[in-house]
This record gives sequence, C-alpha cells and structure tokens, in this order.
Amino acid sequence: MLAAVRPALSDSDIRTVDDIADRMDFAPRHRWLLRQWLQALGAHGSVEGDVDSGYRFVRAVRSPIRPDLVQVCADLGYSRPLATFLQASDDHLTELATDTMRLQELLFPDGDMTTAEAAYRDNLSSRYLNLAAGRAVADLVDGLRGDRSPVRVLELGAGIGGTTDDVTAALSGLPVEYHFTDVSTFFLEAAKARFADYPWMRYGLVDMNADLAKQPRYDIVIAANVLHNAFDIGVTLRQLHDLLNPGGAVVIIETCHAHCEQLTSVHFLMSPGQDQPHAGLTDVRAGTDRIFLTEREWREQLVAAGLHPELVLPEGDHPVALLDQRVFIGVRGRGE
Ligand SMILES: C[S@@+](CC[C@H](N)C(=O)[O-])C[C@H]1O[C@@H](n2cnc3c(N)ncnc32)[C@H](O)[C@@H]1O
Repeated sequence: MLAAVRPALSDSDIRTVDDIADRMDFAPRHRWLLRQWLQALGAHGSVEGDVDSGYRFVRAVRSPIRPDLVQVCADLGYSRPLATFLQASDDHLTELATDTMRLQELLFPDGDMTTAEAAYRDNLSSRYLNLAAGRAVADLVDGLRGDRSPVRVLELGAGIGGTTDDVTAALSGLPVEYHFTDVSTFFLEAAKARFADYPWMRYGLVDMNADLAKQPRYDIVIAANVLHNAFDIGVTLRQLHDLLNPGGAVVIIETCHAHCEQLTSVHFLMSPGQDQPHAGLTDVRAGTDRIFLTEREWREQLVAAGLHPELVLPEGDHPVALLDQRVFIGVRGRGE
C-alpha cells in the first residue's frame, strides 16, 4: 500500500485524500478504499494525519527487506494459490486502483474457481470455520428433526460452495431440504455439478437485499462471508428472523476486522460497479468506509434482531481467533 501511495504523498505538506487520489489517478469508485489504506498506514506509523484534514508521509515500514509473502502465507496455513493471488494483487495494486485491471481477473482467471476456492475454503481459518459451521448445522438439524421433517435449510450467497462442502458432508443421513442460493447465476451451474450427489439440494437466485421478504419459511439460514454485502445489516437480520420458524437459527461466518491483505485484494470487489452510485449504507457502518462489523457489533445486531447469539467461535484464546473471522449461531426463541 505504501509503495502505491508513496509517490502521491509529501514529506512536509499535508495533502487531502482527494488530492492524493487525484495524483494517483485513483478510480472514483475505489476511493473509499484509499481512505481505508491511509488509515491502515497511519496505524502502522507510515503516514500521519486523518481522513478529514489529510495525510503526510512519515517513514517507511521498519524492515527494508520484503519478506517472502508465499512463505509467510505458508506459515499461516494459507495455500499456495491464495498466496500467489495475494502477491498478484500486490503486484497489480496500481492497476487495480486506477481501474485498468479488475480484481475478478486475478480471482477468477478465465472463469476458473481454483483461486477463489483457495481464498474461501482451502486455508486454515476457513477450514476451521467451515467445519464448525457444518457441525453446528448438523446439531441444529438433529435438534429440530423431531418437530419438522425435513428440516428446511436456506444458504445465502453460497458462491463457490466453500461452506456448503462441509455442511453437506455433516448432513449426511439427516432429513433436510437444502436451498443453495446466490445473487449470481455464475455459481449456480458449478454448484449443480458439484453437489449432484445430494437429491435434497435445490438451486436458485436470491438477492438478500431485495428478496428476503418474499421467501418461504425456513428452519436454518446459512450466510458465509455474505452478510457484509447487506445495505443494512440490522434490517437483513430482522428479515432473517422473520423468515425463520420459531426455534430456528442463523449460522453466519463473518470477518470482524479488515486486515491489510484484504484491503489490497478482495475489498476491491466491494466497490460499486463502474458508473454505479455507491450504495449508501444505513446501518452501524453509515458514514464510515468500513465493510465489516466487529464481533461485538455482530453480537449486538443479532440481539437487536431477536436472534440470541448462542455460540460464537473460535473463542478469544484460540490461535485461529487472531485472524478475526467468526462463526455466529443466532437462535430465534421457540416461544415466539
Ligand atoms: C465472499 S463470497 C462467499 C462465498 C461463500 N459463501 C463462501 O464463503 O465460500 C460472497 C458471495 O456472496 C454473494 N453475494 C453478494 N451480494 C449478495 C446479495 N445481495 N445477495 C446474495 N448473495 C450475494 C456473491 O455472489 C458471492 O458468491
């Protein structure tokens, strides 16, 4: 980030974020990300200032030797395709920022999903979270099957099916009906082939920002790495509460802090499309450039929506907790 921004920074003068963005030719749709970069660089002591008044350069990062990112990723339990993707995003940061390259070209090269699978499935944190989500869904189904059979499961933003893989494996032999959905048809065809062995799996388009109020009732809703796309997370959680049968639950996977590796890669996917207006967020993120809620905010939002957060994993002292991703299980009371 610093290498990309450095030519637009002055050592002496404070420059406004707009001035820095203009000097870098930063695409207007991605400028929210520049503000996030500058805040992150400020937290690392490389720049001084704030979003309102502007920034100036202070010093380069401590180590003059660039660590080998692939090795660092290997130490963190990230797979090689994910490391290669993060390195490629870094190498093309200026092109990404100036919109001469789209992140999708790096994440889905020629429509291939291997890199995306590495990002959302084949790394230490995702493996932990997906297995935990699978176990939680199976336990919930087991607890509900006496009242309802089959137990109806809706997955939102299922995408490449990283979480679906572990959930379906855990559901083997249990009485379920599973609705695999996404906002994009791109993922549905691949999912039909991938989950062809499960006769209880159905597929469909659902946009959680538009379609939730017209969904039928379900017993369990799974939303892995997707709820941060809601225009208003509080409204969406309330709608999920309303479409759950009493005693039903949401199983949510979310990142609770944007690490630098996300700010220079997958966060580019969160910008509006070219020539589209920025969707004004109306929840706790309004007026900030944040995409993610903190763990505490998620707990508060779940409670406010009537979804009691019964289990949040990993717990704070678990080594995987350092990567700031969590599984939240929020339950709608049986008496409602
Ligand atoms: C980061 S990916 C996560 C994919 C998958 N759940 C996983 O964790 O492996 C986000 C997914 O959410 C979908 N998505 C984005 N906006 C959405 C919306 N408004 N409604 C439903 N799905 C959405 C995207 O198409 C994408 O598949």
